[in-house]
Amino acid sequence: MRKGMFALAAAGLLATGSMAACGDDSGTDPGSTGASGGAAIGKVGVILPDTSSSQRWGTDDPKFLKAAFDAAGVTVDIQNAQGDKSQFQTIADGMISSGVKVLMIVNLDSGTGKAVLDKAKAAGIATIDYDRLTLNGGADYYVSFDNVKVGELQGQGLVDCLTEDKAVKPVVAELNGSPTDNNATLFKQGYDSVLKPKYDDGTFVKGPDQSVPDWDNTQAGTIFEQMLTENRNIKGVLAANDGLGNAAISVLKKNKLNGKVPVTGQDATVQGLQNILAGDQCMTVYKAIKQEADAAAGLAVALAKGEKPTTATGTTKDPESGADVPSVLLTPKSITKATVKDVIADGFVTKEAICTAAFAAACTEAGIS
Ligand code: BGC
Repeated sequence: MRKGMFALAAAGLLATGSMAACGDDSGTDPGSTGASGGAAIGKVGVILPDTSSSQRWGTDDPKFLKAAFDAAGVTVDIQNAQGDKSQFQTIADGMISSGVKVLMIVNLDSGTGKAVLDKAKAAGIATIDYDRLTLNGGADYYVSFDNVKVGELQGQGLVDCLTEDKAVKPVVAELNGSPTDNNATLFKQGYDSVLKPKYDDGTFVKGPDQSVPDWDNTQAGTIFEQMLTENRNIKGVLAANDGLGNAAISVLKKNKLNGKVPVTGQDATVQGLQNILAGDQCMTVYKAIKQEADAAAGLAVALAKGEKPTTATGTTKDPESGADVPSVLLTPKSITKATVKDVIADGFVTKEAICTAAFAAACTEAGIS
């Protein structure tokens, strides 16, 4: 499976146009366009959520999306709402009035996401939920990973690390993602399906279990500090992404417990991969963002050309509306110290970014040459 997935991701597209639009939070910048499309081809608007809950939104997604649209010769306006829901709506209004033919969003919550999708639809604009499903949102398409599978990999990763550590009845703390992100619900569904049987048969002990509003890393640190103060015996941490994991690791460091308490993650961020190499993080989940961006851009390009996309062969049931949303769902991959090199080989991160002086020895040890 790994080979197939990586081979797919390796079929690369080259970035050709300007990156000026990426990460632009200036609202309705009409200059933020990419390669010029033909007159008949519509423009695409993309709204990303923030630049603080994960490295991906400020760095990886805009880069890969821009490259995919540029390669197709379709004009794209990529903006980031910086975690601000009213800014999200302002950006959407600007894109809608600028005449985009397709709007792609990563919602900040389903309510504001739905409001934007409704407006777009009323203006005859095709809509795509990117990465996060907007509950009851009625988007035309959804592109993401198998998010329950992401959670299963996290749960299994923690089980593997605790087993390797020969932990006896370890207390496990859960630091969940934002309660307003449907993905966080799916991740939890996945890891709890692995952990609950362990709690039930007494192999593991269920410890504190809390959601982190807006995936806020600072709040995650505060929450985990509280958890550890109330339960010094925490022996494993299921953190839903690398940012939350790093927040827990920082607290563990202060208590000289880092490396002794396995912590999970997600997104294969530079920081997460370095935490893995340092022995402070047990695993991460790599989601090949390039594949996700290519899949979403592929749908958007077809729609911008007035064609019916043929690539959304799956469906996702919206649990609120009951609608079956045509979907592309990709496969995530578990990464441990031994496989950090696979993320580099896939071109998602560079050896230079990961193997800085402080990590040089660990990189050699992990077979990163
Ligand atoms: C994404 C994750 C990300 C998290 C926080 C989720 O919806 O799937 O990749 O870490 O949001 O931004």
